[in-house]
Amino acid sequence: MDLKPQILIIDLRSQYTLLIARTLRELGFRSAVLDPKKAGTWLRTAKNVRAIILSGGDGSVYEKNAPEPPKEIFTARVPILAICYGHQWLAQHFGGRVKRISGEEEYGSTKIRTVGNAVLFRGVPKAEKVWASHGDSVSRIPKGFSVTARSIKTGGIEAMESADRSIYTLQFHPEVPHTPYGKKMLHNFAERIAHCTKDWEPSAIVSSVQSGVESVLGKSGTAVMGFSGGVDSTTLAAMLAPVLKSRLLGIVIDGGQLREHELTEIRLHAKAAGIRIRIVSAEHRFVRELSTTVDAEEKRKRFKKIYTAILNEEAHRFGGKPALLQGTLATDLIESGATGGATIKSHHNVGIAYSGIQLNPLGELFKYEVRALAESLRLPKSVFARQPFPGPGNFVRIVGAPVTKERLALVSWAYARVEEILQKHGLYDTYSQTVVALLGVNIVGVKGDGRVYGPIILVRAVKTIDFMTAEGVWFPEETAKEICATLTKHKEIVGVVFDPVDKPPRTTEAE
Ligand code: XMP
Repeated sequence: MDLKPQILIIDLRSQYTLLIARTLRELGFRSAVLDPKKAGTWLRTAKNVRAIILSGGDGSVYEKNAPEPPKEIFTARVPILAICYGHQWLAQHFGGRVKRISGEEEYGSTKIRTVGNAVLFRGVPKAEKVWASHGDSVSRIPKGFSVTARSIKTGGIEAMESADRSIYTLQFHPEVPHTPYGKKMLHNFAERIAHCTKDWEPSAIVSSVQSGVESVLGKSGTAVMGFSGGVDSTTLAAMLAPVLKSRLLGIVIDGGQLREHELTEIRLHAKAAGIRIRIVSAEHRFVRELSTTVDAEEKRKRFKKIYTAILNEEAHRFGGKPALLQGTLATDLIESGATGGATIKSHHNVGIAYSGIQLNPLGELFKYEVRALAESLRLPKSVFARQPFPGPGNFVRIVGAPVTKERLALVSWAYARVEEILQKHGLYDTYSQTVVALLGVNIVGVKGDGRVYGPIILVRAVKTIDFMTAEGVWFPEETAKEICATLTKHKEIVGVVFDPVDKPPRTTEAE
């Protein structure tokens, strides 16, 4: 079974992009959600793409640096559905006109009337409620296109198509529940227009991963996997533990990079997944290796070196030449250049030196799909909704100072307090990732009767879809005050800084 999805969604910076993927999943279709650059690579390498969807976006097509889909969308020769910003972008691309039209802005529910018998609107009432959010509008459609829906109130263009080019566009959002027939439109596009076959069936994906691994391992082969308790490794474990049973061992590497109570959570997640784990305590090895550099990339390299060494040692100890299973996902493989594109970031678990067989059973799945699979496997919410915590963990959250056991303990303590406060204020789950880092400069303060010099803690949270771009969070004043007061109660911490800068120019992590 080819596990690559047939629908490619190109994210042009819409907050609803993942909703398109979720709605398609509810209809039985998988999709790959990628930013324009990665989408270009995907279109050049994945052979089974049958449909492309351009998302909405927060830009204006006539602005400098407005997001653009890759040119490969036109050479792929598959139907394109474009939503909101995507609709405007295509209109402009083919010579139509897009501008801000006073009186045509729509923010919320609005009514449209369909024109003609567009396949996209089969089974949709002629006059229908939709949900839109736009200031710009298409004022003139390109040659070769026809209008397929108009706003009842303003007569503005709400949809157009060029059946010859297989391009279908909507000014409104079919993916949100406030467009009651939106799901029907997506269904018409996927099935009637693009002839996609249904490929999202969690149990079929689970069986395909199981049989893929079993066919390599045979009846008696064994396997080890790095188990972090995160969504990817826990989901992979939950898929494979029932079939491999005692032939599978999860290796948990506690190198001192973990957060407070993380081992407890790892044990819980291992239990939920049904995998047997072995916890390797190796803080001294990691700290010794990482304490002599402050360079982030160097730290990642050294982390990978010890991580690899321990995995090999443990595999040897397990015996029987086990295969090494990794929970690496499609995006990690694309970012690491493993699928032919440029290397954006090295991942510590891609390209590991291992003497036996290495398998990436989730290598064609995406994070949001793995989260959905975790939910369908009835893993706890702490698994499927978990914020990412990178492999090198707190090692890359001690910035500009050598890694020591004391600093690791401090940053781990600080994260736990920040998480508690954000949970209490109902905010933690609304963020994609929270980062708490120790900055290697001392700042002056007064504690008790004396002047003190101590470190600064950086607190950052981001909201994002794919981690390629992210919105930095400004904490509410009350929350920020509580974080400051709580952290500076620690006898060593003197300062707290908040970092709400977006990515770009920042990244998610502190280094
Ligand atoms: P950045 O900082 O590039 O991070 O915005 C994007 C996502 O990747 C995670 N990240 C890492 N994951 N090893 C990993 O396994 C790493 O060295 C690493 N650096 C960043 C980061 O936490 C975020 O989720």
